[in-house]
Amino acid sequence: MTEKTCESALAVDSERLWNSLREVSAFGATPGGGLDRLALGDHDRAARDHLVAAARERGWAVAVDPVGNVFVTRQGTEPDLPPVLIGSHLDSQPLGGRYDGTYGVHAGLEVLRALDDAGVATRRSLVLADWTNEEGSRFSPSMLGSAVYSGAHDLDAALARTDTSGATLGGELARIGYAGAWGGVPRRLHRALEVHIEQGPVLEAEGVDIGVVTGVYGIRWYDVSVRGEGGHSGTTPMALRRDALVAAGAVVRAVSELADRLSPELRATTGEIVVSPNSRNSIPGSVRLALDVRHPEDAVLDRAERALEELTADVARATGTEVTIEPVLSQPPTVFDPRAVAGVRAVAERLGLSNRDLVSGAGHDSVHLARVTPTAMIFIPCVGGISHHESEDIRHQWAVDGANALLHAALDAAQESED
Ligand code: GLV
Ligand code: MN
Ligand code: MN
Repeated sequence: MTEKTCESALAVDSERLWNSLREVSAFGATPGGGLDRLALGDHDRAARDHLVAAARERGWAVAVDPVGNVFVTRQGTEPDLPPVLIGSHLDSQPLGGRYDGTYGVHAGLEVLRALDDAGVATRRSLVLADWTNEEGSRFSPSMLGSAVYSGAHDLDAALARTDTSGATLGGELARIGYAGAWGGVPRRLHRALEVHIEQGPVLEAEGVDIGVVTGVYGIRWYDVSVRGEGGHSGTTPMALRRDALVAAGAVVRAVSELADRLSPELRATTGEIVVSPNSRNSIPGSVRLALDVRHPEDAVLDRAERALEELTADVARATGTEVTIEPVLSQPPTVFDPRAVAGVRAVAERLGLSNRDLVSGAGHDSVHLARVTPTAMIFIPCVGGISHHESEDIRHQWAVDGANALLHAALDAAQESED
């Protein structure tokens, strides 16, 4: 057997991968079979501790940076060369699924374990990362850990972000024991690879094993504030009201109709609504809405932004309320490095896995990594395309195929000599 054939026979341990996914699902498990593991809460701490314990068991170095990103390093034979980074996130949506992010971290852990067990020495070190606050459900914006790591977001501003109870990200990092430092954290990378569930229906519907991700939709977030006038629900005649929730309802509907007006590929969502005073027999005096708008082209997102400004002004005029809209995130569309993407495609072919190109509508930490190193993503199918929901699910074989694709893509990159 040549060395090459030996390496392509290398595979992850499918049972160990599945067990490790099952184990980590206990941290923040919901009665509905999903996860409530918000960033830097106690369940996130438990999932992080579980990862760190697995790393220490193998003697791998663990580093935590100042925004709480965790890095596990399996050292290569030439540790001065920039390493290959594999990773994803352990935090979840408030009623999220077990695999969004967690699958990528635990597939990465299994890749390191499989290389160890097979005694494979890589030239470059392999670094497994768990990125802080990918989801953005607790601290806005999303992908904050990788944004700070890549220089796209200021560290102090990130640490000062607050959740709805007023807790700061920095305070929560200290509380759970994950406020670190830059020492030991790899800053120059050779390649970044992330395996993730598709979170959409294409791969399963087409019976395709692997999605080769060529890029990610642009994402814009907005906070909308509606100010009307509160009052008594029984005594204020309808004609005299300036009900902030009625105005907000008109905004929600108009947002949901934006795609019809602008582009079928546009995704426009009102995901949060906070009503004040939120009492059945009081007229709502103010409302806050959180909007999420996505498209693969910046020009269409610009048009959507202008449409949002117009529609909020129209609603304000029609309802006699004050409506303001404030951008809170503008993430341009990402195109991944063609060579890194070709590397993933070649691995899928070599392993006999059917594959197709996909553009991701979901945001990922890889978007930030793509600014600092050639980056690629591997998707596996998920049942019914459902994600950000407790019923999110994957099949054992899909998990194994994705982890094997990650294993070989990471190994190829780790053996490369040139920068
Ligand atoms: C994160 O999961 C996102 O796509 O917003
Ligand atoms: Mn994710
Ligand atoms: Mn997510």
